[in-house]
This record gives sequence, structure tokens and C-alpha cells, in this order.
Amino acid sequence: IPSIEYIKEEEMEGKNVVVIDVLRATSVITTALYNGASEVVTAVEIDEALKYKDENTLLGGERRALKIDGFDFSNSPIEYSREAVFGKRIVLTTTNGTKAINKSMRAEKIFIGCMMNGKAAAKKIIEYDKDAFIVCAGTYGKFSLDDFICAGKIINDAVEEKDVQIDDFAAAALLSYRDNRDDVISYVKNAYHYKYLISIGLEDDIKYCFREDVFDVVPEYRNGSIRL
Ligand code: MLT
Repeated sequence: IPSIEYIKEEEMEGKNVVVIDVLRATSVITTALYNGASEVVTAVEIDEALKYKDENTLLGGERRALKIDGFDFSNSPIEYSREAVFGKRIVLTTTNGTKAINKSMRAEKIFIGCMMNGKAAAKKIIEYDKDAFIVCAGTYGKFSLDDFICAGKIINDAVEEKDVQIDDFAAAALLSYRDNRDDVISYVKNAYHYKYLISIGLEDDIKYCFREDVFDVVPEYRNGSIRL
């Protein structure tokens, strides 16, 4: 699905979904859990996130991609190191990614995907042998190239593993990935959010998020929290 605005929530009923916000929310969630955070809880509003704060809970997220006053982390995945997050609960509020997760609540299973766990996410889709959506968070409700090519990578890994049926949107994402897999970052250089992140000095985050298959874990949302 090109972005969350393009789908009615009821269409996800009974299906599995992989939610992607490669720049940067789902890359943050995957990194934090891989590095030993006990769970990630998403909050829509800043005030809601602040209410969770206790000695075992760290707050992360962004508005306009910048750290929120009073929070422990920004939305930079590099900050969520093992040292910083091990054993901690993370409460995350972001503009697009956490909304896409919230919009997927009617799905049967909700997985979290990014470039860094793409192959593992593809295996999850196949493992359950059931219709699946890849839900791109997009940027402010609009289609985004960065999520699109990430979807293409996961679809590529799925079709290499098994003869799965894909729709035309998925086929377009797959072709984009295959045509640009040697230099995905050049492909996303035209993306709105890419340009914005560069303009505020976050090039290292982009390089970090576009590494492929460095984690073999797939976070899953269940009963109000995301865990491995
Ligand atoms: C979001 O959820 O809107 C994004 O992850 C924004 C960002 O890059 O921080």
C-alpha cells in the first residue's frame, strides 16, 4: 500500500501486515528491540508519552524530525544503542510511523519492517501463508519513495523465497528495488523526507537505515506493545 491514506482500515481485517517507516520510526523500533529494549509502546501525542515516564521507561520520538523537549532520545536509531536501551521500555511518538502502526490495528498480525530486517520480514509474510499487506507510512499522508523502495526490497526477498502472488503496486515497488538495489540511497535522493533529513544534518541516520539485513529479528505489535 503506497501510504496509509490509500487504505481503509477494514481492508486489513484478518490479513497480516508489515508496517514500514524506513526513515526512521520502524528502523528505530527494530534497532531498540534488537539492542535489548523490553518493549516499545507507541503514543500518538506528546502528553500521552510523558505520562508513561518512570525509572524503567525512556521516551523517544520526534516532531519535524527533531527531539522533543523532556524526552530521552530523538528519532535517530543510532541513539538506541544496547548500552542505552537494554532492559528498558521505550515509549515512542512520531509523526508518520506510529500513526501507520495505529492504523493497522485491525490486521491479524502486525509486524515491523525496515531495510535492516527486510529478509526476516519477508520470511514472516511467507511463514503464515496468508494474504499480507505491506503498509508504507509515507510522509504526512503522502506517498514516499523511501518506504516504496523498502517495500520493494521486502517483496523481492519474499518472491525469491517463494512463488507468492503480488499486485501491481507491489510489482512496481519490486521493479524499483531491483533496478536500484546497487545504490538505493541515490534512488531516494529525490524523496521529500530524505531532503529534509539531509537539511537538518541527519545523513548518518539515512546511511544507517538503508543498510540491508543486518538484523534477523522482526518486531511484532501485540496487546498494546511491540516486542520481538
Ligand atoms: C515519522 O514517524 O514520522 C518519521 O520516522 C519521522 C522521522 O524521520 O523522524
